[in-house]
Amino acid sequence: METVRVSASREYDVIIGTGILDTAGERIKAIKKPCRVCVVSDDTVFALYGERLRKSLENSGFSVCEFVFPHGEESKSLENFGKIQEFCAENSITRTDLIVALGGGVTGDLAGFAAASYLRGVDFVGIPTTVLSMVDSSVGGKTAVNLKAGKNLCGAFYQPILVLADCDTLGTLPHETFCEGCAEIIKYGMILDGEFLEFLQDNSISDNIEKVVKRCVEIKRDVVNRDEFENGDRKLLNFGHTIGHAVEKCSNLKISHGNAVAIGMVIAARGAYKTGLISEDFTKILLPVLKANDLPTECEFSADELYRAALSDKKRSLDTISLIVPEKFGLCKIVKVSVEELETFIELGLK
Ligand code: NAD
Ligand code: GLY
Repeated sequence: METVRVSASREYDVIIGTGILDTAGERIKAIKKPCRVCVVSDDTVFALYGERLRKSLENSGFSVCEFVFPHGEESKSLENFGKIQEFCAENSITRTDLIVALGGGVTGDLAGFAAASYLRGVDFVGIPTTVLSMVDSSVGGKTAVNLKAGKNLCGAFYQPILVLADCDTLGTLPHETFCEGCAEIIKYGMILDGEFLEFLQDNSISDNIEKVVKRCVEIKRDVVNRDEFENGDRKLLNFGHTIGHAVEKCSNLKISHGNAVAIGMVIAARGAYKTGLISEDFTKILLPVLKANDLPTECEFSADELYRAALSDKKRSLDTISLIVPEKFGLCKIVKVSVEELETFIELGLK
């Protein structure tokens, strides 16, 4: 069992290990007296783990109500956000109560934003059950839902009071979903930790999952401690995301976030090299490690389609957009390109 402490606007522990789910009630009780809990989960995860979480919470004196929604990115919507608000009110959740997210990044982002807004903020605990949510979305307090115009355009920074990452739950993940989380893991190596990137080049992620989750959480913790509200360094965590979000949007959310980030990192690395922003072709490092983890490295969309989709990105200011590009092995930098330059960047990045 490993504990990583985050010191952002709120301090909290991220507990990583096995056998944690059945002890969730005791662990939450250690930091919050028994109260009413609204568990938010998607239908797939709830069927697998909902009962065990309820038992653990009730055994520790919490009283539980459950909001279950259909799995998938389409559910990260204003509509479900509104439904959770109404559900909490109908179930008498008060300011001293708790919302718990049991599931992947979709559940965490949706439930976290609901917790940030309901009664202007109620405590929130994350129980991530995908690789992606353990290494990335459950840590650092970004919560959001998607708008028609693009991904994560409506949300809030809102830190949890505790994160419980039980690696046993990863045992039921489909292979493809496991791999999607590996894209964010590879991202950490590329942007901030050459030694970790080297480890990923030589070792299997699944054989070392606890160690890998811990290292990713530490990297993210360090970034969030320095720049919680993304005024500087935190932007590095968006490597592959500006174009990745465009890929997701062009696919009508059919291409998952992790797969889109994998494709986005390749386009960013190639585009930066071919436009002369950097002197080294980092796709030589990225492509083998992505392929070894069964991740896609290309998509069928045209530069024009991706360009139009990327214009709604949050990293855009009036006529420039911030892109993250590799600088050295295990190090990335932030560059600003004009909106006009972006289309050429994507065009060259595609091939
Ligand atoms: P997800 O939550 O949709 O989970 C993927 C699929 O796996 C779903 O169908 C889910 O039902 C299933 N699943 C989850 N846990 C399971 C388990 N243990 N066993 C079997 N099936 C399981 O998606 P995700 O990949 O976890 O997260 C992607 C989302 O996270 C995107 O919306 C993305 O924008 C967001 N994200 C947010 C941040 C952040 O900082 N807040 C960071 C990265 C990504
Ligand atoms: N996933 C990017 C961030 O948390 O900033």
